[in-house]
Amino acid sequence: MKKLVNEKPSAMRVRQGFQTLLTQTRGDTKFKPNLFDLVDVDVTIKDLPFEFHNYKIVNLTDIHLGQWISPEYLSGVVDYVNSINPDMITLTGDYVSYILEGYEDALLDSFKRLKAKDGKFAVLGNHDHWADAEKIREILKDSDIVDLSNDVYSLEKNGETLNISGVDSCTVGADNIDEVLEKLPDDGASILLAHEPDFAKISSETNRFDLQMSGHSHGGQLVIPGVKTTPFRCSYSIKYPVGAYKVKDMVQYTSKGLGTNSFWLRINCKPEITLFYLKTDKRKKIEITGV
Ligand SMILES: [Fe+2]
Repeated sequence: MKKLVNEKPSAMRVRQGFQTLLTQTRGDTKFKPNLFDLVDVDVTIKDLPFEFHNYKIVNLTDIHLGQWISPEYLSGVVDYVNSINPDMITLTGDYVSYILEGYEDALLDSFKRLKAKDGKFAVLGNHDHWADAEKIREILKDSDIVDLSNDVYSLEKNGETLNISGVDSCTVGADNIDEVLEKLPDDGASILLAHEPDFAKISSETNRFDLQMSGHSHGGQLVIPGVKTTPFRCSYSIKYPVGAYKVKDMVQYTSKGLGTNSFWLRINCKPEITLFYLKTDKRKKIEITGV
């Protein structure tokens, strides 16, 4: 995959043209909720302020617009996400596959229409860098999406804080965790967006993040029933290819993403929209039995 960096724009165009033809063979390109997994992930965060208890974050990743995912399909995803009424929307990269050309307006329209009470936050994936990182950053900006590439946003709600950070793609060497740590307040609940899941090895060592959200692997496009993992792993998704992991004190969550690589083939591995609910550990819970 990494060799794409060296491909000439004309080669990328040919590749995209082939992909567009393949995408048309799918016929019906409308979004249907039953073809997706809406995955609920409850994450208990130490000392999460009460203000953010049950906070609802929708994560979208690996859209790969133009590679099986049509603009019409993405528009359906947006309607669906908006119907969930999230507090926040996060986007963890790979918005296009080979070239952005021809898909700028569709991406902009959909990203603009995404609605979340407290904002929309994103990082870039390796494919975004290979396509056109600068233009994709412009699209994020024009859609009111905060670009968290090696950056931090501290969200305040009634005097309480939730920190949302992001690292740029480590596949292309654009990640800079030191810059993130410099900007991140010394304490307080903290979430990290990182396209590549295996970045968790680095981020967990800092002891400064409670949750890392990632994509990149597409769940290997095949999940083995029972063991719920995949034999198909690419670079930077070898260790944490699909689902939830505890890495030191941090939760790593790797989404199966929306798009696919090369062929429209997913076995026991539906496309995914992830719905995180943050939970504080300060609340006591009782189990009612025998009623
Ligand atoms: Fe990726």
